[in-house]
Amino acid sequence: MLVAILPGDGIGPEVVAEAVRVLQALDLGLSFEEAPVGGAAYKAHGHPLPAATLDLARRADAILFGAVGDPDCDALDRALRPEQAILGLRRELGLFANLRPAKAFAEMVDASALKPEIAASIDLLIVRELTGDVYFGTPRGRRQTDAGLREGYDMMRYDEAEVARIARTGFEAARKRRGRLCSVDKANVLETSQLWRDVVIEVSGDYPDVTLDHMYVDNAAMQLVRNPGAFDVIVTGNLFGDILSDQASMCVGSIGLLPSASLDAAGKGLYEPIHGSAPDIAGQGKANPLATILSAAMMLRYSLGRPEAADQVEAAVANALAAGARTADLGGSLRTREMGDRVLAAL
Ligand code: IPM
Ligand code: MG
Repeated sequence: MLVAILPGDGIGPEVVAEAVRVLQALDLGLSFEEAPVGGAAYKAHGHPLPAATLDLARRADAILFGAVGDPDCDALDRALRPEQAILGLRRELGLFANLRPAKAFAEMVDASALKPEIAASIDLLIVRELTGDVYFGTPRGRRQTDAGLREGYDMMRYDEAEVARIARTGFEAARKRRGRLCSVDKANVLETSQLWRDVVIEVSGDYPDVTLDHMYVDNAAMQLVRNPGAFDVIVTGNLFGDILSDQASMCVGSIGLLPSASLDAAGKGLYEPIHGSAPDIAGQGKANPLATILSAAMMLRYSLGRPEAADQVEAAVANALAAGARTADLGGSLRTREMGDRVLAAL
């Protein structure tokens, strides 16, 4: 099976290298092909998502993605910014279902921003819709108001098919877990959210075994800090899911720990850490590779049909943490490569 390797910008190449080492160590006969993406691709080829990179992503059985984002590119036209690479891949490949699990590691609760007993209770899955919402709505742009003021505008929109599809992903996931689904919206203010809520309720008729409740996003942000253990599966839109997943990561201990899978309707997927390119520490060997290594484990489980290998990788990460392996984000001093070594040793 072919795995596309898209390291991207900033710390992307460093963390992806460790995940590739882990995949190679498993000796599963995978082949790897690398291509540039993001600011790195813009600098080399004039576009953040070159045609050859998109072609590789289409051909591959799964995609391992690092991160995109480069301050050198901040002044570029939006269509050429590094972020357009990941947004383009999500859109072009129809990767609508973003799974972002957040689970406490017993030995890591001291790194959480929360009290240890609260942090220890976290075992949730955020199911984020990934190809709609204000991220992709049109029209969007800049104009002058009648009063001569500069104005920026974006369109938040969902249609019922998009909502029903991600709702089903959420219900299916809840069914395999603790049977509870919390749909997060802002139906008290937004029409998009009222449609979201109506459709989620309609779909719930097919899942009588799953307990559904609804929460406004502001309340959900508060409950994630107050009592995160109460959540099982959260299903939400693109923008709210982006924000809540960063928040959930710090509840677990570090944004350097959270993996993600972005899946299409057939289960093909792109796998990436939820963190960004962290230009401030890029190239210094300080980044935590665990989120990317755990993303590779999700790839083994969801796209490569190797759940037992996924379990092995996840156990190796847990064992390395249990043995005290800590990068700087976790209050330690291990370098990126050394953390990779610890995981390989545990494997
Ligand atoms: C993420 C990131 C992206 C997003 C950016 C890089 C476009 O924050 O994957 O969470 O907003 O979806
Ligand atoms: Mg984000």
